[in-house]
Amino acid sequence: MISVPKGTKDVLPQESYKWQYIENAARKVAKTFGAAEIRTPTFEHTEVFLRGVGETTDIVNKEMYTFLDKGGRSITLKPEGTAGVARAFVDNGLFSSALPSKLFYITQCFRYERPQAGRLREFHQFGIEFLGASDANIDAEVILLADSFLKEVGINNVTLYINSIGCKECRKKYQQALIEYLGKNAEDLCPLCKDRLAKNPLRVLDCKNDDCKKITAGAPKILDYICDDCSKHFEKVKRLLTVAGVDYKVDAGIVRGLDYYTRTVFEFVSNNIGAQGTVCGGGRYDGLIAELGGNDVPGIGFAVGIERILMLLENTGVEIPNPDKVKVYLAPMGEKEAEKAFELASLLRARGVAADFDHMGRGIKAQFKYADKIGVRYVAVIGSDELNNGAVKLKDMTDGKEEILKFSELVNKEF
Ligand code: HAM
Repeated sequence: MISVPKGTKDVLPQESYKWQYIENAARKVAKTFGAAEIRTPTFEHTEVFLRGVGETTDIVNKEMYTFLDKGGRSITLKPEGTAGVARAFVDNGLFSSALPSKLFYITQCFRYERPQAGRLREFHQFGIEFLGASDANIDAEVILLADSFLKEVGINNVTLYINSIGCKECRKKYQQALIEYLGKNAEDLCPLCKDRLAKNPLRVLDCKNDDCKKITAGAPKILDYICDDCSKHFEKVKRLLTVAGVDYKVDAGIVRGLDYYTRTVFEFVSNNIGAQGTVCGGGRYDGLIAELGGNDVPGIGFAVGIERILMLLENTGVEIPNPDKVKVYLAPMGEKEAEKAFELASLLRARGVAADFDHMGRGIKAQFKYADKIGVRYVAVIGSDELNNGAVKLKDMTDGKEEILKFSELVNKEF
């Protein structure tokens, strides 16, 4: 037997309705905010992520699925959605279309991480990218969209943490202070962070190594270094979140693990799914489009981890409605009746009613058992009497009530 690769999962037929529930909610909420779907390839030229996500990040350093294709090009399976969307925005000249460009996606992502609950090597994100607007009102709107999505699926017990990590200018001042602080503790940093200290000290702040964490706990906070413009921007985001009734906590420790962020960053975190509690992460990325060869177009977005959302719903006892799969199951009691069942099922399906019938030559009892197992709402029995009378005996499986219906009545019934 060959099993699935480590860190990946099959979505089986008995649970796929849960995925559809999440995806439907994502599409519904995204559309109410005016977003349209974008689908980008599963793999990109590696350079997209080197330049987009950043060469000193954990994702690029340790987690990417990168390989040379048969033409010798370096290809990477997307570890996240933003860089590919930004590449597509530039590649397709979307900056000359109506701005802001409000985009959403539902995609699989790949990261070579150590698998654990809520951390997979192939996982799925619902993401939003709003490109072209720099006002703080779009930051608040993107956060509100994430909040609306979480509420739509039935999640109310997460905490929203927000922070500002400033612009390029304030980052310079902060970086100096950080280098000074980290420099004093440099010997105790992990080898990767020693390297980061020289190349990109901000990344030391999201290192998961315990020794590094101890050191960074006392590091200067970026919020104390942001410039007037960034500070005003952050104040407006907070004001608008309050107007929208979205609760938040400011957490100066949130820096996010990707290099493209500027100004507003945020995470929705749950205490109900173990160590991997961040169900949604996002922020502003005003330099990313230019970094990928486009104009100076600002952007902001987030991504939700769908597996973590499903875990959270399960752990907090939120019932996901399981829509009826087959509405009408036709249960014939003989060969001739089976041909009638075939015909009636075809007529029902042509009207858009999910219908099925026995394919196994089972007896009537076994057919009822099967119908029950697959969650059928109605069973239409066709015995020889029914066939002679041109009728079926229709049983509602929820309350056991039965009625006799002519074939034409069955086919035209509003289910
Ligand atoms: P991220 O924080 O790396 O951000 O990932 C977003 C979400 O994806 C996480 O909060 C988590 O729920 C889920 N996730 C990440 N890694 C895994 C994994 N290995 N297994 C399961 N779930 C995972 C981004 O990806 C950014 N692109 C978000 C963004 C969009 N920022 C701006 N626009």
